Amino acid sequence: MSTTGVSLKTSGFGQTQRRDAWWAQQLLTFGVFSAFVVYSTWAAFQGEFYAWGPYLSPFYSPEIFGSSSHALFGPKPVWWPALLPFSPAFIILWAPAGFRITCYYYRGAYYKAFWADPPSCSVSEPRKKYRGEQSFPLIMQNIHRYFLYLVFIIWIFLVQDAWKAMWFTDAATGETTFGIGVGTIVLTLNVVLLGGYQFGCHSLRHLIGGYLDHLSKAPVRHAGYNCVSCLNRGHMTWAWMSLVWVGFSDIYVRLVAMGVWTDWRIL
Ligand code: FES
Repeated sequence: MSTTGVSLKTSGFGQTQRRDAWWAQQLLTFGVFSAFVVYSTWAAFQGEFYAWGPYLSPFYSPEIFGSSSHALFGPKPVWWPALLPFSPAFIILWAPAGFRITCYYYRGAYYKAFWADPPSCSVSEPRKKYRGEQSFPLIMQNIHRYFLYLVFIIWIFLVQDAWKAMWFTDAATGETTFGIGVGTIVLTLNVVLLGGYQFGCHSLRHLIGGYLDHLSKAPVRHAGYNCVSCLNRGHMTWAWMSLVWVGFSDIYVRLVAMGVWTDWRIL
């Protein structure tokens, strides 16, 4: 048998034989993700214009304490430290933020886009040794499953918000009637997109699938597992659509509450 020696050269950082624009996706990820983080942080600090009529911004839901009629337990509590700024968003926004940051898909995307490790598939990395996520701090990413439990609870409140967004109270008569405004559609679509993202989570797939990677222990594939797997195949698309739409939902409620936009009634 004849053999041929092939020398494998170690390339420097960023070197590749790829001819496509491999950096474009990373640039887009960096831009969209950064814009979302900056906007959502700014919106969370505002503490006002987050509700209008039956609408409540998803960044502020559930509103545990707050000044709007949606608040579950009334206004800002007296025990809140005077030195700390207060916004109803501070109490809950960390959970969906943590869920996104620890998401298996986003991890792969922002490791490439934010610290180029690796810059892309088949593109040289900045360091020689692969440390993975088995040591601090990245081992903390395993907390993802617990964020999943929390965002499911929040999602149930968002479903309730979408339902409430269909009931409008007449300021003159005080009568509440069914109706559909543009905001109703915005908040309902938000729930659908977030549901598509969350129900396609890798952790959920493992949770309900159990030993499907152990043939001897594998249960029969059930409809729930197949459904989650189906959503999981489009996880990246659900992730970005739900991210953009949840941000837009806050913008919509905010601008309507500020009187910049008019909420058109369809029904
Ligand atoms: Fe993306 Fe769980 S893996 S949400």
